[in-house]
Amino acid sequence: MGKVYYDKDADLKEIKKQTIAIIGYGIQGRNQSLNMRESGLNVIVGNIDDHYAPNAIKDGFKLYSPEAAAERADIIYMLIPDDAQGYVYEQYIRQHMTKGKAIVFAHGFSIRYGRIVPPKDVDVMLMAPRMPGKQIREYFLNGSGAPVFIGVHQNYTKRAKHRVLAMAKAIGATRIGALEVSFEEETEVDHFIEHFLLPIIVRAIRVSYDALVEEGYSKEVALLETYASGEIGELILEASRVGLYQVFQQNTSPTAQFGMAHYAEKVFPDSNKKMIKDILKKIKNGEFEKVLKKEGLSGYKHLKKVVKDNNQSDLIKTHHRLQKMIKISGNEAVK
Ligand SMILES: NC(=O)c1ccc[n+]([C@@H]2O[C@H](COP(=O)([O-])OP(=O)(O)OC[C@H]3O[C@@H](n4cnc5c(N)ncnc54)[C@H](OP(=O)(O)O)[C@@H]3O)[C@@H](O)[C@H]2O)c1
Repeated sequence: MGKVYYDKDADLKEIKKQTIAIIGYGIQGRNQSLNMRESGLNVIVGNIDDHYAPNAIKDGFKLYSPEAAAERADIIYMLIPDDAQGYVYEQYIRQHMTKGKAIVFAHGFSIRYGRIVPPKDVDVMLMAPRMPGKQIREYFLNGSGAPVFIGVHQNYTKRAKHRVLAMAKAIGATRIGALEVSFEEETEVDHFIEHFLLPIIVRAIRVSYDALVEEGYSKEVALLETYASGEIGELILEASRVGLYQVFQQNTSPTAQFGMAHYAEKVFPDSNKKMIKDILKKIKNGEFEKVLKKEGLSGYKHLKKVVKDNNQSDLIKTHHRLQKMIKISGNEAVK
């Protein structure tokens, strides 16, 4: 396991006189920019002229085009969607990657698959939060921090680790501990979760809902029970604090625990490991990256169809109805 770094290991002075250009004022960009500025760093924003751009001005940042921001910056933090990074880098950033600058990624993808090959005389670092931007901001304001992976791919200045640790401190991550990883490990594990664990959870909920409704149970009861009450989400959150099994031992009845134990291996046999290994193989050998590239070139044709079908599903119609009937604490309505 890589080393874990805390506040005491990081010094904001390392980059206090440097300009950080946040390229992309979206989910990660906005929240990390606000945290960094409140930690005393000099942050500018580089964003194309889209609907996110006015948010940066409203928040009081100097807004530039991605190219102008890259030119002015010492540290360039790529916070645009991974699939767009190669093109944006080639068009606007590459010519400004001059000696001693740094380029930072929130996901190892562009480096791992060679979509971006920075020059040898710059630093290349990873600061990959394990949380959506909204929570990175909320935890920071609460005096805590979101978990983050950090890494160094190129260390031209011999200060790359110090520079990325200062950034991690500025967003609040070293308050709880930032874990060092390689670009490869971060990318491959992140993709694995997206290819296996997340689809299993979401698909299991959908199939369970459909089956319960087919068996004559009311739609609202099926939805509330499968996910909409938030109970499963709360249990998983609590598991991150007390342990995967302890959460059930501490919060559920023996009937519930026995039911789970009785069915666990039947519904999810160890033979699934074969599929896990196959998915990992396709991540490692670049097969998935090729499929993703093809999908991107088609304008995300397949994804758009899936999104449309999902949003028109009976499950989502029930969700809209249920939201009007039962206001679950902290829930925001599905748009
Ligand atoms: N979201 C997360 O929870 C999360 C967690 C950890 C790491 N990350 C990583 O953080 C990075 C940013 O992800 P994100 O979710 O924050 O991105 P995002 O919100 O989807 O997009 C960020 C910005 O990129 C702009 N953008 C999109 N396509 C562009 C293009 N072709 N050229 C220039 N700008 C473009 C967007 O503007 P428009 O779309 O309006 O054009 C927006 O301003 C990625 O590397 C991702 O893997 C994300």
